[in-house]
Amino acid sequence: MIKREEILDPEYLPSEIFHREKEIERIKGAIGPIFKGKKGENLFIYGEPGVGKTTTIKFVLSKLGDVKGIYINCWNYRTPHSFLGEIARQFGIPIPKKGRGLDEITDLIKKRKTGVIVFDEADKAERIDDIYPLLSENFVFIFITNNREWIMKLEPRVSSRLFLGYVEFMPYNFEQMLSIIKKRIKLAFSPGSISEDVATEVARRAFLKRDVRVGLFLLRKIGKICEENGLKRAEMDIFERIGEEFKLKPVLNKNEKEIIEILKNMEGKTTGEIYGKYTEKGGKLTQRAFRMYLAKMAEKGILIIKDTGKGFRGRSRRIFLSGKYGV
Ligand SMILES: Nc1ncnc2c1ncn2[C@@H]1O[C@H](COP(=O)(O)OP(=O)(O)OP(=O)(O)O)[C@@H](O)[C@H]1O
Ligand SMILES: [Mg+2]
Repeated sequence: MIKREEILDPEYLPSEIFHREKEIERIKGAIGPIFKGKKGENLFIYGEPGVGKTTTIKFVLSKLGDVKGIYINCWNYRTPHSFLGEIARQFGIPIPKKGRGLDEITDLIKKRKTGVIVFDEADKAERIDDIYPLLSENFVFIFITNNREWIMKLEPRVSSRLFLGYVEFMPYNFEQMLSIIKKRIKLAFSPGSISEDVATEVARRAFLKRDVRVGLFLLRKIGKICEENGLKRAEMDIFERIGEEFKLKPVLNKNEKEIIEILKNMEGKTTGEIYGKYTEKGGKLTQRAFRMYLAKMAEKGILIIKDTGKGFRGRSRRIFLSGKYGV
């Protein structure tokens, strides 16, 4: 029933990337000037695990044409010696076996003048500040991480010089997740072997965990279970055979948990009233950020926001817990 298992591998690079058009355009825009021999914009890409950051950047790098694209996963190249050495290697700069000093490697890279250099999992690298001498050339640096605070660890002289543009990859909404999962099913499985309901349920679980990898993992597992049991088609009962760890539970961050705690006693109240209580309890978000959180939580199906028309001071919105996900 699985035709091509490699399609379900999280490392597999899909030839088509869905729902990241805006982000791709933003990244291309930042790189654009170096095609004309000018300085581009350096970027800081932030997003939770499994939202397509690595896949998207690799896709962009694969389309650079004449401009050199360098991809470094900082998990594998942590020290300045190792990431600068790897950048040199990818530029095709020969590094003798006995090695070279950092300054020497940096100078050799500098001579290449231009290119796009991506540091993925950037928070895993030590002393990224050592790229400083390269900032005088027309390289575009792109840093990717799940750690929003990472940027604070840079030396001020480096961060001010980098002048990073910010790109956030938001988690996919349910429809987007569903289309990504369906496409993988189509490529990886024989036709008709995954029922529509099963596809939807896989997408729903991946959506709630906000991670495409969860969906890919489930699909591999479903394929294995079917093969072991000689099933030609997966139907909903397949989920009974899948481990507890993938039972439904939304992943909530600290702010969301705080908001839910308050809402438990304030259902149906207006945003303003709830925000009042939130600050009374020591909540730190600004009202604007608070409203954004509510909107995001509504998008995830945790809350329901009802627009009740005119209040005293403009529109008023009343907030309800959806109760759907056992929060
Ligand atoms: N828009 C998309 N279209 C197709 N496949 C996607 C898309 N987004 C993510 N995927 C798939 O989901 C998996 C995880 O994506 P990716 O590795 O890019 O996530 P990430 O944001 O880099 O996560 P992490 O922060 O953990 O490194 C990959 O297998 C990727 O192919
Ligand atoms: Mg990644």
